[in-house]
Amino acid sequence: MIKLICTMIAILLLVSTAMALDDPHGATASINCQQCHISHSTLGDILVNSTDSLISTLCISCHTPGGWLGMTKFFSSSFKAQPGVSGTSHAWDTDSSNTTHGANQPQNAELLAHITKDGKVTCATCHDPHANSNPPFLRMDNSTDQLCLDCHRSRNIASVKTYTGNILSHPVGVALPTTTAFHNPPLDVDGNPQPSDGNLTNDYQFGAGSTMKCTSCHGIHYTDSNSGTVDGP
Ligand code: HEC
Ligand code: HEC
Ligand code: HEC
Ligand code: HEC
Ligand code: HEC
Repeated sequence: MIKLICTMIAILLLVSTAMALDDPHGATASINCQQCHISHSTLGDILVNSTDSLISTLCISCHTPGGWLGMTKFFSSSFKAQPGVSGTSHAWDTDSSNTTHGANQPQNAELLAHITKDGKVTCATCHDPHANSNPPFLRMDNSTDQLCLDCHRSRNIASVKTYTGNILSHPVGVALPTTTAFHNPPLDVDGNPQPSDGNLTNDYQFGAGSTMKCTSCHGIHYTDSNSGTVDGP
């Protein structure tokens, strides 16, 4: 543990001069390494500047009304999903293996390296707070649900997409039939055929060739499970 902390301090000192932070976590908002990291007297093994050693506490300390200048993207622990009960956001600080909800420990090396030491999914499992190469600060591209399916891979196999008597899941990777009986084009959240109403912000998202994705139906944050409203912070 001491060795790990020393290594982290050394890395922090070494890279702090070289490593750039991408906006909006960078110079424009006057954010530097010290806002999120402290080198001494910190709880946990990650040198993260939060009162309880939870990364989510660090994130939410800014991502709360008035938490940082100009902050518009708010979170609170009450947003965390408890399926069928409450919440508007994908769960965090929760075990990465969950058979009820079809999740397994990630396989992608970046994700796996950023589950917490007690095996939990947290904000920094999905997000890299330093780099915005996959907006918004994602650890990997999610344009075809790669991020989702790395953990939820058990819902992307033939046995859950065909009617075999197993516990089933809505098909993904399957093209929407080109017939109005299957609501193609689908109606967006205003109830207008998309994209012909010209408002692209509330359209369902599909993969190449109009294929269904997890994120055709699921939002990640600020989702109120009401298809009649546009979601957002
Ligand atoms: C917005 C908050 C934030 C800022 C700003 C920030 N970091 Fe981090 N950093 C984190 C979090 C969260 C982790 C992930 C810890 C984990 O998953 O174990 C982390 C991890 C790291 C790691 C370990 C490698 C890794 O990716 O897990 C290093 C090294 C690091 N940060 C260096 C820096 C340096 C140097 C700066 C300034 C240039 C900086 N950080 C700025 C939040 C931040
Ligand atoms: C020092 C304050 C601070 C901390 C700590 C912080 N953020 Fe942020 N973050 C910001 C600001 C400021 C913005 C821009 C907000 C806005 O546009 O309203 C932002 C925006 C973001 C965005 C949206 C990026 C975009 O391009 O739209 C993501 C994603 C994000 N933060 C994730 C995180 C995660 C995950 C953590 C914890 C590891 C974290 N933040 C910790 C200040 C912070
Ligand atoms: C056609 C729309 C649709 C698609 C596509 C879809 N879902 Fe769902 N999903 C739903 C709905 C609606 C519910 C709520 C069902 C309920 O409450 O019984 C749900 C519930 C869930 C739940 C919580 C309940 C449970 O059984 O665990 C998880 C986890 C989930 N979906 C993951 C996924 C993943 C991962 C994918 C992609 C492989 C996906 N979904 C694709 C519509 C969809
Ligand atoms: C399971 C993966 C996952 C976890 C865990 C997660 N996020 Fe996200 N987050 C995403 C994805 C994917 C997006 C982009 C899609 C979206 O905006 O709905 C996103 C978007 C965001 C945004 C931008 C929202 C906007 O409307 O512009 C912010 C800010 C953010 N996340 C912060 C957080 C914070 C803070 C936590 C922890 C409290 C967290 N995320 C946990 C996957 C995750
Ligand atoms: C790092 C692993 C991981 C990734 C990546 C991930 N999930 Fe999950 N997901 C989980 C776990 C674990 C649960 C069970 C959480 C709980 O309720 O305790 C879960 C639960 C869910 C639920 C049920 C609501 C909830 O939060 O409990 C939905 C819906 C869902 N995931 C969809 C997605 C989608 C869509 C993506 C892609 C943006 C995604 N997940 C990415 C691990 C992951």
